[in-house]
Amino acid sequence: MPANSENYFPGLEGVNVDTTRLSYVDGQKGNLFYCGYSIEDLAEHCNFAEVTYLLLHGELPNQKELDDFQEELLAERYLDPHLKSIITLTPKDGHPMAVLQALVAQLAMHDKEIADRSLEAKRRKAIRIIAKLPLVVTYFENVRTGMRTVEPRMDLGHAANYLWMLTGIEPTPEAVKVFDTALTLHMDHGCNNSTFTCRVVSSTEADIYSAVVAAIGSLSGPLHGGANERVIHMLESIEELDEVEPFIDAKIASKEKIMGFGHRVYKVMDPRAKILRELAGSFVVDDPEMDKCLKKANLFYKITEERFQAKGKMDIWPNVDFFSGVLYKALGLPRDFFTPVFAISRVVGWVAHHFEQLEDNRIYRPRFIYEGAELGRKFKDMDKR
Ligand code: SDX
Repeated sequence: MPANSENYFPGLEGVNVDTTRLSYVDGQKGNLFYCGYSIEDLAEHCNFAEVTYLLLHGELPNQKELDDFQEELLAERYLDPHLKSIITLTPKDGHPMAVLQALVAQLAMHDKEIADRSLEAKRRKAIRIIAKLPLVVTYFENVRTGMRTVEPRMDLGHAANYLWMLTGIEPTPEAVKVFDTALTLHMDHGCNNSTFTCRVVSSTEADIYSAVVAAIGSLSGPLHGGANERVIHMLESIEELDEVEPFIDAKIASKEKIMGFGHRVYKVMDPRAKILRELAGSFVVDDPEMDKCLKKANLFYKITEERFQAKGKMDIWPNVDFFSGVLYKALGLPRDFFTPVFAISRVVGWVAHHFEQLEDNRIYRPRFIYEGAELGRKFKDMDKR
């Protein structure tokens, strides 16, 4: 066995790779804090711009700071015509997460400050990315559905403008509030996989766009942000309430992972799942299809919990991805937009971590335990292989 085999932590479980001031996940108690503030307080009292400011500056803004910051975001709320034409040429059946990855790389090519490595330029690029990501996916939705393209509105907040651009219909204040809250809940979450990916890429001193492109790729995976889309697919595949129980039993019997359940850090229910469940419950009204979907989700949650508890697995609970999909469905978002919604929020955490990484940077370069062929094998010429 090679000499480096003793330090082996599959999935880096329990390993601290760096420090952060951004968020803290208390997995035992089920609490989440951004810059020391509880997620419950932020979700109730703040909007997207305020919490974004908090993660980028470490403090909540006063009114003047918030107004100035919103102006900065608004100034970047447009897409270059060339970028729009690229979206027009994108295959309509492409997944919006792939569109996001491709278009963030395009944004980098269109950024005149790409070579400017000053902190001020990096900060402007971060704002640019946060402001433009929602435009990319909503414009793509307009194009692929063949509707007229909806231009951004400068009189709307970040969440409201997203919903407006997606449909061309002015969202209700209730829809804006629940969507804004969902965005707040997804912004940062300790050393999750996409944020770690972002930090790994940032540690090479690659530009912020490259780090974000890589993070989007990570988030798309079904074990990470891609789970929310699969949860709703799962719920929609169950037609009636009395089919929920046999569906779960079949999944457990075949040892399949149940999407939207389980977490590396939380040993109790994810606090974001609790809030999203309540939001979905309060928002889903007067729509029989959505009412049924919510009932299925709640029954699914209850039965799955009972089954895991009966098997002695006391630490598998719904995570953020279980109830978010129900809420997004109620908001009328297409199913393949659920993970992109996660991305347009989590990008705030990614860029904030990009800056933290660069403060006291050391390139990530761990090791693999080698378990390949015998070292020093005798080389064979082509005609002898
Ligand atoms: C997110 O880390 C973050 O912060 C991520 C996130 C964020 O904000 O960025 O919170 C967002 O990515 C949420 C997770 C979304 N993914 C899913 O919902 C997919 C389903 N969940 C699992 O695959 C799993 O729970 C993970 C990926 C979330 C966590 O994986 P771990 O920590 O490697 O845990 P594991 O797969 O090794 O499971 C430990 C045990 C196993 O049982 P045993 O082999 O020990 O008997 O728990 C079981 C697992 O089989 N288990 C599950 C399960 N999750 C864990 N069994 C069935 N269904 C599940 N969902």
